[in-house]
Amino acid sequence: MLGTHGIAAGRVFVLFAAAASLLPLACAEPQWAGGQVCRSCHPGVVVDFYRNPHYKTVAAGVEPPERTGCESCHGPAAEHVAAKGDKSRIRAFSEMQPKQVLDNCLRCHAESLGRASIRRSSHSLASIACNSCHSIHKSRTPKALLAKEQREVCYLCHGNVRAQFSQPFKHRVNEGFMKCSDCHNPHGAAAPVWGMGARPRMTAAALANEEPCLKCHNDKRGPFVYEHAAVRVDGCLGCHVPHGTANARLLKRPAVFTLCLECHNGAGGFGRQANGVKLTPNTHNMADPRFRNCVTCHARIHGSNADTRFLR
Ligand code: HEC
Ligand code: HEC
Ligand code: HEC
Ligand code: HEC
Ligand code: HEC
Ligand code: HEC
Ligand code: HEC
Ligand code: HEC
Ligand code: HEC
Ligand code: HEC
Repeated sequence: MLGTHGIAAGRVFVLFAAAASLLPLACAEPQWAGGQVCRSCHPGVVVDFYRNPHYKTVAAGVEPPERTGCESCHGPAAEHVAAKGDKSRIRAFSEMQPKQVLDNCLRCHAESLGRASIRRSSHSLASIACNSCHSIHKSRTPKALLAKEQREVCYLCHGNVRAQFSQPFKHRVNEGFMKCSDCHNPHGAAAPVWGMGARPRMTAAALANEEPCLKCHNDKRGPFVYEHAAVRVDGCLGCHVPHGTANARLLKRPAVFTLCLECHNGAGGFGRQANGVKLTPNTHNMADPRFRNCVTCHARIHGSNADTRFLR
């Protein structure tokens, strides 16, 4: 009798104990430690944090613990503290998959960065997460917490682009007059409607979905009475390279006429108009060097308000 009872009681006890040990996991109350306690073991990180834009979450004094200070990113840290610094008991970024980093940071930044476009940006799809470019604790830039000066961050992975910006004709990015982000949005950009739709390359649209180029070259924006369809339809990249090249005026080809003849040569039309594009008239003698620099006469090549053939 007693024996049976004992066993039964024992079972009850075992079951109860099991339930009790599950309890903290099942409906775990996160154990917050607060930011102050971190100081004793991570003094450098804590002291620098006062200058961090994320200190705002502490200074505000109104945020819930999961959005305040250290633990807003590293999660509840009481267990980590109790264990005197067990890395497995805290959200350590050195252990996280890129996807986890993204999710973590986007809890607060999804709105401003464009929730949808950052999730399907080329960088996110290639598992390049926030901390590949940003450094929360060892930033080298006063703005935007970048791990290095912007172009150097980009060149970590896009070394070939540095060479393009070292060509004889280039936008002066390496000289510090422009930044990659003048044309690209490293967080991804919504698909634009202009010429580069098929290959948006994360280029940041200027006003009203225009090419980023028009932000600075607004004299090319038009509208013109006589538009060059090549500019309006195919966009700037129909004739220019964006980074740098050995060709003057950042043109795609070394000689202007070869560029123009790509379209104005009747290709596919056996000497007649192809796709409605007018042929270079036969008054234009290509053997005569005078005709080779088409833009000496067609000077308003981006569009004209005076002449249908862009002569003035
Ligand atoms: C905005 C998110 C965020 C906040 C807030 C934050 N950290 Fe970090 N922490 C990171 C990231 C990301 C890393 C990975 C390395 C990096 O990017 O600098 C990191 C790394 C660390 C490391 C590893 C050592 C190092 O320097 O890389 C320690 C320790 C640390 N954080 C402690 C803290 C403490 C203490 C606080 C509060 C004073 C804090 N963190 C606040 C995101 C954050
Ligand atoms: C008693 C000392 C101690 C306290 C207090 C402490 N830590 Fe740590 N922490 C450590 C040690 C030691 C490590 C390194 C563990 C390792 O490398 O395995 C560590 C590692 C970390 C890491 C992981 C860094 C990485 O490698 O990615 C983070 C994040 C971190 N601590 C955050 C905090 C935060 C936030 C607090 C305050 C809430 C805090 N720590 C309080 C001792 C401490
Ligand atoms: C490929 C590099 C790269 C990645 C990946 C990246 N960023 Fe950025 N981020 C930048 C650069 C460069 C700037 C500065 C842009 C400027 O100066 O105009 C910036 C600016 C910011 C800014 C401040 C300006 C703004 O646009 O609001 C925030 C906030 C930010 N990033 C958060 C994040 C978060 C969160 C992630 C991950 C979800 C992330 N970034 C991923 C490169 C990156
Ligand atoms: C708890 C919410 C929260 C989390 C999580 C968070 N941030 Fe922030 N972040 C902020 C706030 C608030 C600011 C300050 C914004 C301001 O100054 O208006 C900020 C500022 C920044 C800035 C600087 C913006 C600038 O204009 O200079 C960058 C970069 C940034 N966060 C990146 C990150 C990254 C990367 C992560 C993940 C490791 C992250 N944040 C996680 C709330 C958060
Ligand atoms: C940690 C490595 C890394 C860093 C840092 C980095 N990138 Fe990238 N970037 C990549 C990878 C990987 C791809 C995808 C390549 C591919 O799909 O061919 C990519 C793609 C791109 C593309 C092409 C997008 C497309 O749709 O084809 C652009 C533009 C770009 N990055 C710009 C930048 C800029 C600007 C910076 C600096 C703010 C930067 N990257 C920093 C790794 C990086
Ligand atoms: C003047 C505007 C501009 C600037 C500045 C600029 N880019 Fe680009 N970039 C573009 C355009 C436009 C494309 C698309 C080219 C194409 O599809 O032919 C592009 C394409 C790219 C690509 C994809 C190339 C490929 O062929 O896959 C990468 C990577 C890239 N840029 C990185 C950078 C980096 C890194 C910087 C800064 C060091 C930078 N860009 C600065 C306009 C710019
Ligand atoms: C942030 C402003 C800015 C943006 C965006 C920009 N440019 Fe420029 N661009 C300049 C400046 C400034 C110059 C003057 C040359 C210099 O800096 O050496 C220039 C020069 C040029 C030149 C003439 C080069 C020469 O030899 O005279 C061409 C062509 C050009 N840009 C095309 C473009 C195209 C195409 C785009 C878009 C892919 C673009 N730009 C985006 C600022 C910009
Ligand atoms: C049909 C080909 C073509 C297209 C498309 C085109 N350009 Fe040009 N662009 C040229 C040629 C050719 C020159 C050289 C003109 C010269 O040497 O007089 C030039 C010169 C330039 C210059 C330097 C001289 C100047 O006029 O300021 C800039 C800047 C420029 N283009 C920007 C752009 C921008 C921005 C776009 C897109 C809106 C664009 N281009 C589209 C052919 C084109
Ligand atoms: C990407 C294709 C393309 C390129 C490159 C191009 N064009 Fe055009 N061009 C067109 C199209 C399309 C039209 C409008 C259809 C037409 O009228 O021929 C046009 C129209 C013209 C016209 C007006 C014809 C008329 O009487 O209405 C002239 C002149 C012209 N282009 C000259 C040039 C010159 C010079 C170059 C080289 C600097 C050039 N184009 C480069 C596609 C192009
Ligand atoms: C010496 C000045 C001059 C040069 C150089 C020149 N053109 Fe013209 N182009 C004209 C004049 C004038 C017209 C209008 C009269 C005509 O049809 O001959 C014209 C007309 C055109 C037309 C429109 C034809 C039509 O049917 O309306 C096209 C297309 C054209 N040129 C393309 C080019 C190309 C491509 C080059 C360079 C290979 C070039 N032009 C070089 C003066 C020039």
